[in-house]
Amino acid sequence: MGENRSSYTSLAKTLTWQDGFLTLLDQTLLPGEVVSERQESIGQVWDSIKKLKVRGAPAIGIAGAYGVLYGIKDKTDLPVAEFLDQLKKSAAYLDSSRPTAVNLSWALHRMVALAEMMVSEKQSVDSVIIYKLLEEEAVKIHEEDKIICRNIGLNGKGLVKEGMGVLTHCNAGSLATSELGTATAPIYLAHEDGVEFRVFADETRPLLQGARLTSWELQQSGVDVTLITDNMAAFMMSKREIDLAIVGCDRVAANGDTANKIGTMGVAILAKYFNIPVYVACPSSTIDFNTDTGDDIVIEERDPEEVTFFGERRTGPEGIKVRNPAFDVTPYELIAGFITEKGIIRAPFRENLIKTFT
Ligand code: MRU
Repeated sequence: MGENRSSYTSLAKTLTWQDGFLTLLDQTLLPGEVVSERQESIGQVWDSIKKLKVRGAPAIGIAGAYGVLYGIKDKTDLPVAEFLDQLKKSAAYLDSSRPTAVNLSWALHRMVALAEMMVSEKQSVDSVIIYKLLEEEAVKIHEEDKIICRNIGLNGKGLVKEGMGVLTHCNAGSLATSELGTATAPIYLAHEDGVEFRVFADETRPLLQGARLTSWELQQSGVDVTLITDNMAAFMMSKREIDLAIVGCDRVAANGDTANKIGTMGVAILAKYFNIPVYVACPSSTIDFNTDTGDDIVIEERDPEEVTFFGERRTGPEGIKVRNPAFDVTPYELIAGFITEKGIIRAPFRENLIKTFT
């Protein structure tokens, strides 16, 4: 164990909850500025999720759980039924900010379900007590995520072997979660164990999560990381510089089809050609058994200006037609396994995911 090898724990915290307020590291400003912003209202939390100030499937789930508290914190004098109604409205509002990552609706659903259970089971419960329990539940969701990420790291670190080149796409790192990340968890823990390997971070057009976030956090943590543009992955694979790919996920359908950042499917198709295994680091909160296959996953379509501008600079002609799907779906056949908190799940995925998680 190299003591000074890894400093991911000293990275600025993605989310903090203190004295009834949520503070978010503004990821749109990284890597240039490390600025955290206290959230003052549910509208601000909605906006922070929409604008990707907080992003990454687990992190938006946690932000949603805390965010919903803003919608009800000054409503605790309401009778329980009206308080519950307000909670449901707040949850539906936050859920409308981004459609693809299931973690957001998962966390919001968990908050509402807890309140409903309290109301149905305890006749004497009041809105103040429900608020307190909901706050505890949000903290629990946040704390559980830390443990889940660590276990993904422990279950996946054996895949990262001495001398390997490991490709990752987008940011499924510490910044996208409570701590440690999902795709980066095996990377951080292998690094901590003294394994020598290199990571290649895809730039991840159009919003550059790989360049701005993944390469930044891995570099800060002392991991050997090289930034490449998305269209360089095939070349690096052809030169045998990449032996393994680990990516995150936003929604895993019951059959194993996996939505993740746009470009992930391309990486998986290339990897298949070059015979390189692709693993999806996947907390159980991202598995959606209500979605049968990838065809049923709603893909977020974002502002065309994310494509026609590079920062402040216009890079596409005015009036040009643009498509900007933020995610794609990697067919399950291209996935070697899901690194989960309960171990590595291999094909047949439908059967094995159900067996492990229901
Ligand atoms: O649009 P983003 O930046 O929220 O997309 C994030 C991703 O696609 C991540 O890979 C995914 O959420 C996994 S995060 C552990």
